[in-house]
Amino acid sequence: MPTTDPRMPLPSCAGIGLRHPHMAEILEQRPSMGWLEVHAENYMNDGPAVSALERIRDHYTLSIHGVGLSLGSAKGIDERHLARLKMVCDRFEPAMVSEHLAWCVGDGIYLNDLLPIPFDEEALAIVCRNIERTQEAIRRPILIENLSAYVGFARSTMAEPEFLAEIVRRTGCGLLLDVNNVYVSAQNLGFDAYAYIEALPAAAIGEVHLAGYVENDTPDGPVLIDNHGSHVSPDVWALYRAATERIGRRPTLIEWDSDLPPLETLMGEAMWADLLATAITAPPQSRKANRRAALPPSASQTAKVAVCDHHPLSRQHQMEAA
Ligand SMILES: [Fe+2]
Repeated sequence: MPTTDPRMPLPSCAGIGLRHPHMAEILEQRPSMGWLEVHAENYMNDGPAVSALERIRDHYTLSIHGVGLSLGSAKGIDERHLARLKMVCDRFEPAMVSEHLAWCVGDGIYLNDLLPIPFDEEALAIVCRNIERTQEAIRRPILIENLSAYVGFARSTMAEPEFLAEIVRRTGCGLLLDVNNVYVSAQNLGFDAYAYIEALPAAAIGEVHLAGYVENDTPDGPVLIDNHGSHVSPDVWALYRAATERIGRRPTLIEWDSDLPPLETLMGEAMWADLLATAITAPPQSRKANRRAALPPSASQTAKVAVCDHHPLSRQHQMEAA
């Protein structure tokens, strides 16, 4: 059965993004994992994946992550898409629902990408109106995720953390802090990733994402792309550590979408997120014992078990991982 009441938030431990190639293995072996997150759009039509997820839902806490609502669209939310999202939420009763601070629909055409918005009063009013409509329709607050950025808007009148804080204040939504996206944006646009996290309203952050990125060489210099196709980088682990020190332990997702590795690799990344959060948030007297667990992982340290609040970190696990 799920580890939490579906009406309550996610457990404050690490989970993984559930992708189709791993569904059969999860159903067969039911490995110990904190929780699972799925993309809403993959479950909006009946099919084998929907029935598999219904069975998985009996054993794991779920989070629903939308990628197609287009909260930045000036013409408003597509009501048909919103109705499909509501159907997914009603069917799977997720502990959390989240979407992106982005737009992806123009003149009824869905673009295969999440595109950024400027941070000004006009965009703020549009986004807040769309978030309020979404929350009204699905009858629950949602989390809004920061996007990775490759360009900035000259017309922006506020910094992204300020923009996000104002969204929270006006709509009552929460935030999904994607630490990898912050790092990628900071490298591409030249701002301080640590200062960005310091400026966010910590209490509003209900979930954290971790993922890998790739570095592309261009004539103007390297550009980082959040391709979700590799291990979390040491720099992003360091930023995650700082974020956890600032906001406390939060439900943390390992996102991996391209070049999908074996399930045990994802579980190993999740275990490292749990080890790091445990080391940071443990009482002072036990931090020394956990210190080695705070080191970033290497490929040879991929673990076969994941741990969370519901599967307390045993001394043996710490010894094996360190
Ligand atoms: Fe993310």
